[in-house]
Amino acid sequence: MRVVTARDYDQMSRKASYIVASRVILNPKCVLGLATGDTPKGLYRELAFLFRAGDVDFSGVTTFNLDEYVGLTPDHPNSYQSYMREHFFRFVNVSPGRRHIPDGAAPDLAAECRRYEAAIERAGGIDLQILGLGRDGHIGFNEPDVKFETGTHVVTLAESTLEANARFFARADDVPRSAISMGIRTIMSARRILLLASGAEKAEAIRGAVMGAVTPDLPASVLQLHPNATVIVDEAAARTL
Ligand code: GLP
Repeated sequence: MRVVTARDYDQMSRKASYIVASRVILNPKCVLGLATGDTPKGLYRELAFLFRAGDVDFSGVTTFNLDEYVGLTPDHPNSYQSYMREHFFRFVNVSPGRRHIPDGAAPDLAAECRRYEAAIERAGGIDLQILGLGRDGHIGFNEPDVKFETGTHVVTLAESTLEANARFFARADDVPRSAISMGIRTIMSARRILLLASGAEKAEAIRGAVMGAVTPDLPASVLQLHPNATVIVDEAAARTL
C-alpha cells in the first residue's frame, strides 16, 4: 500500500487525476471503477479540465460504478446515475454504452447483482478502481462486518452511513435504507486501487485502513492486502498517521 500525502483537498484531487489520466493515456480502452460521494468530485473536475485541454480522451474507456441506492430510478436527483451525469459524464466523452451503474430500481435485485458482476468480468475486469472512504471505514457500501469474499450484493446501510448521507436528501427519512454495491471481492479483483480521503472526519478510518489490523470491522483495511493500492490523503485526514 502506497500512501501519498497532499496538502489539501485540491492537491489530493490533482494528484489523483494524474494517476487516472495516465492509466487512460497508456491504455485508452481501460476499465475504470468509479466512486461517488463528495470526495471524488474534485478528481472528476480535474479530469474534465484535462479532457477539455485535449490531454486525455475517454472515448474508448469503460466505466463501472461501485454502487447505487435501492429504489431510486436513474433519473431521481439523488441516484448515483444523476450524480455521475452531473459531476463527470456531461463534461467528458465516455460513450453512453460503456457506462455501467447498478440498477437500484431493478425488479429482481439478486439477478441485477449477478448481471453486474458478469458484466465486469466480460469487460475483462477493472483496471483502476477509485474509492472514497466512509467514516466507519466502508468502501463502496461495504459496511463493517462485511464478508471479504462477497461479490456485488444488496447491503443494508449502517445507521452512521444513513446519517452521513442525509445531507444530500431533502429529509433524513428519504435516504434509502439499502443499496447495491460491488463486494470486497469485486473491489480487490481490480488490478489497481486508488483510495482518496480528505478531512479530519476521515482520520480515524484512514488510520485503521493503513495501520490497523486487517478486519471486516473496518472494510478498507483489506486494501493492505492488495498488491497495487495507492492511498492519497490530505493533511487533515493524515493527522493520525
Ligand atoms: C457513500 C458512498 C461511498 C463513499 C462514502 C463517503 O457511502 N457509497 O462510495 O466513499 O459515501 O462519502 P464522502 O466522500 O461524501 O465522504
